[in-house]
Amino acid sequence: MCGVVGYIGGRQAAPILLEALKKLEYRGYDSAGIAVIDGESIDVRKMRGRLQLLCEHTRDGQDVPGTVGIGHTRWATHGAPSDRNSHPHLSNNGRFAVVHNGIIENFRQIKAMLEGKGYVFYSETDSEVISNLIQYCDQGDLVKTLLAAVPHLEGSYALGVLSLDQPGCIAALRKDSPLIAGKGEGESFIVSDIPAILNHTRDVYLMEDGEVALLTGDEIRFFNGYGEAVRKDIFRVSWDVSSAEKGGYEHFMMKEMMEQPETLRETVRPRLKEGRVDLDELKLDGDFIRRLSMVHLVACGSAYHAGRLGKDLIEKYLGIPAEADIASEFRYGSPILNGDHLLIVISQSGETADTIAALREGRRRGVKTLAVVNVVGSTIAREADHVLYTWAGPEIAVATTKAYTAQIAALILLSAYLAQERGQLAEAERAELIEGLEKLPELARRVLGEKEQAQYLASRYFNRGDVYFIGRGIDYSLSLEGSLKLKEISYIHSEAQAAGELKHGTISLIEQGTLVIAISTQKRLREKMAGNIQEVKARGAAVLGLVTEGDEVSAALCDDCLRVPALPDAVQPILSILPLQLLAYYVAALRGNDVDKPRNLAKSVTVE
Ligand code: AGP
Repeated sequence: MCGVVGYIGGRQAAPILLEALKKLEYRGYDSAGIAVIDGESIDVRKMRGRLQLLCEHTRDGQDVPGTVGIGHTRWATHGAPSDRNSHPHLSNNGRFAVVHNGIIENFRQIKAMLEGKGYVFYSETDSEVISNLIQYCDQGDLVKTLLAAVPHLEGSYALGVLSLDQPGCIAALRKDSPLIAGKGEGESFIVSDIPAILNHTRDVYLMEDGEVALLTGDEIRFFNGYGEAVRKDIFRVSWDVSSAEKGGYEHFMMKEMMEQPETLRETVRPRLKEGRVDLDELKLDGDFIRRLSMVHLVACGSAYHAGRLGKDLIEKYLGIPAEADIASEFRYGSPILNGDHLLIVISQSGETADTIAALREGRRRGVKTLAVVNVVGSTIAREADHVLYTWAGPEIAVATTKAYTAQIAALILLSAYLAQERGQLAEAERAELIEGLEKLPELARRVLGEKEQAQYLASRYFNRGDVYFIGRGIDYSLSLEGSLKLKEISYIHSEAQAAGELKHGTISLIEQGTLVIAISTQKRLREKMAGNIQEVKARGAAVLGLVTEGDEVSAALCDDCLRVPALPDAVQPILSILPLQLLAYYVAALRGNDVDKPRNLAKSVTVE
């Protein structure tokens, strides 16, 4: 996610803006910029690359005079990293400057409307429409202007706005993206995240959706959506800088798990329009979609586990064969590839060497390629024919959580879109999928809010030597991910087994006290799973079940239980993995491990 900062007061703004942006670097970004009011103009300095480049270009801000400014670190969503796509964006008349964190879902419509009125655009971003929309809605008063502009915006935004017509203030507002206002001695701030201003003030206002803030050096006033003044209480920050970078959480992994309701909304909502799955952004040829005869899903680690779920979805909704392959196997195997196949590569970083190699092998063999990827402008994003971004924002913890669930959500959307375009998605299926996807963020928030149960179970089981995850169908794919999450951060030996396979060998390892985590979320397979649970119980296993709410028959067979709300099978895995992420986190924390940076592992495996 992007970083927004703003300063107004008695000191030179540029050095303070750059220093604040440095404190947001951990959020991940690909370009940075500042805008400062300098007499009769707005001085904008922005560029692709590390913040250090901008500091060198401006002598740490010394070369940019003025005491009122805004700044931004960009995590690209629309438009690859470049100088032009960096923020701040100026309006055509040069009198407004804007920085934006979020996604404007209807930016194409706004852009077309404004172009029709003679406005000119210089970037590929969704954010640039905001600066010209503000000019278009100008009421001569910043608060009124913003309140006139925002009803046109659909999506999420945290905005900082400068106006040459009101050079003595900064305006700010938010919807779905975080924004905080800070009050110092004779100076005021806006920031996306508290760490950016902790060295200046600990007195902050946590802005609510729809609120507009008007900052001067002496005061910060707030207005509601009707333009009425509202009073807000000051929040006194007690965190230290390090914990504040993690949003007050002890680890990035916990912060990123807790972001999943927001990231799932960011991934899904812009792609559901009037009851239709809208992935026109892919620019996939309709004839190709109709001729499609096979799909290969290729990735590594958790991304491969997401790919397995994608395979099930493709076969279920399109009725064509799909293969999920580990990238390092795919590229040295003899995959059957031809012109009416689609090769989908999945990657959070977009830089995983094995996955890149698989993508290049597919392109060498003349197969159409599509990347499901999180990092805009990454190697995989640039080399694939088509790209579906997961928009989960930067993921810092090595163990992936929000990017993995965003990958599943993206694959659900993709499968539904392809089936829809092939005329194969029944109305009832479409409605069920869309309803499930729309409920996800709130249900995810509820499941994550009950993290104490996972914490308690971790305290019961954190000292086990071996752990076996079992499941069938989608629950087997989940078992693979649950097992990986546990082993990679707790260092406990863990493995996943297709539950039906136990009796073909692995069950010989089950003995008194062996921990078996049984995932049983599919109604049609409950009885089979009950049999498997009883099999391992009979050999002395302790069984921790993961079941859907209301399934007390399965729960009664287990020694302990994690429960999740029931959703359609296609969407269920996104909820079911959440307690397993939490369990792995708490077990690792109890074992005193470095949860964010587990031994021997890297966030992106750029070597083969
Ligand atoms: C999962 O928690 C690990 N971080 C690892 O398995 C990861 O999913 C794998 O290396 C693939 O990375 P990518 O998604 O960046 O390609």
